[in-house]
Amino acid sequence: MTTATEQAESQGLLLQLLDPANRADPYRLAAQFREHGPLRLPEARLTVFSSYRDCDDVLRHPASASDRSKSALARAEVESQTQALTEAGVVLPPPVPPGFLFLDPPDHTRIRKLVSKAFAPRVVNALAPEITALVDGLLDQIAGKGRFDVVEDFAYPLPVAVICRLLGVPIEDEPQFNHASALLAQALDPFVAFTGSPSEGMEARMQAGTDLRAYLHGLIERRRSRPGDDLMSALIAVEESGDQLTEEEIVSTCVLLLVAGHETTVNLIGNAILAMLRQPSQWAALGGDAARAPAVIEETLRYDPPVQLIARFAADDMAAGGVEIAGGDVIILLLAAAHRDAAEFDRPDVFDPDRQVLRHLGFGRGAHYCLGAPLARLEAGAALSALTARFPRARLDGEPQYKANVTLRGLSTLTVTV
Ligand code: HEM
Repeated sequence: MTTATEQAESQGLLLQLLDPANRADPYRLAAQFREHGPLRLPEARLTVFSSYRDCDDVLRHPASASDRSKSALARAEVESQTQALTEAGVVLPPPVPPGFLFLDPPDHTRIRKLVSKAFAPRVVNALAPEITALVDGLLDQIAGKGRFDVVEDFAYPLPVAVICRLLGVPIEDEPQFNHASALLAQALDPFVAFTGSPSEGMEARMQAGTDLRAYLHGLIERRRSRPGDDLMSALIAVEESGDQLTEEEIVSTCVLLLVAGHETTVNLIGNAILAMLRQPSQWAALGGDAARAPAVIEETLRYDPPVQLIARFAADDMAAGGVEIAGGDVIILLLAAAHRDAAEFDRPDVFDPDRQVLRHLGFGRGAHYCLGAPLARLEAGAALSALTARFPRARLDGEPQYKANVTLRGLSTLTVTV
């Protein structure tokens, strides 16, 4: 039984997590979550886990679902939002299938299988020369300037160019939807789960989704008549060959991949650069030995993970982390806290690429393990090793600024002098 005081304390922690003032250093707060243990708000039908073991358990649990329609509260929330918007005269777009990140078997299995060929290590590794050329081009521009913004001038343009190339989206169209991608990433923040209502700007996010979908339908029409050697053309071929995939599912898949390609690897590259500049021996070590890149990348995924939390829904009554969870409840896994858990990692608050045992959850675990992981590792490896080698005397030039996002936390600006 939770007392009113405990409930107020838990609610306070959740609100602090949403507060942009805590974005620069979420790890002090993460420690408070860990000390608290599994946090339960029975009325909100919410459980938040923050130890490594509990997060790992939930990701492996057969009753952990990703389809939010399995959450009783999410269903009620969608209904009430729909009603409120309709009453306010907003014309709602017709329902569309969610991206496969938000699906369970059998739909998840079917769509993931069709897409995974494009992200297999062999296919991804073939992009290496193109990625190296893109990195070199960006570094040449930085060298000409002497001072650069890590996000705008380096960490963002690379993954964006690569995901557009992979999907078959013309890079010159990208300015049309990069704002939409940023808005859609905000929709991952757990405002409804923590407060009962969405964060501000929901209408703008819905409009962004509608606009991006309209753009992608148009591009599908163009690719039908002139296919390319890209993922969208491959998915269109699958759709045309039978009943395995619908056009709406192709659009949802492309939205998911475009947002993932725009909003995640940028944060990995940015966070790794910041960690190394705060510990210049690491910058010098990587600059002198490109083979250290994988260790730097894996440690960044642990120490300052681009995806700070993962959501699940209990498909059934289940037990995890020593607590009983009712079917339909929301479960939040705080990776940011799990990754600093001293029960799993020695000296967890130290950035140490040389640590031997590293089983981070930065790319998730289980059926939804990140499909883009080989691509993200390749891009970040090429970017970080080339940057450190080219600019051995780089140093921070000002304080890092962060975006407001909770789930996909990342730098908005970081100035560096080379
Ligand atoms: C450093 C960069 C990245 C990080 C930290 C990251 C992290 C994650 C995490 C934690 C998950 C699991 C989510 C869950 O279990 O609910 C995930 C899933 C996924 N990621 Fe990534 N990701 C990154 C880059 C990418 C890229 C570049 C792409 C593709 C363009 C991508 C595509 C996906 C997809 C499609 C899924 C869903 C897989 C499924 O549901 O089966 N990710 N990612």
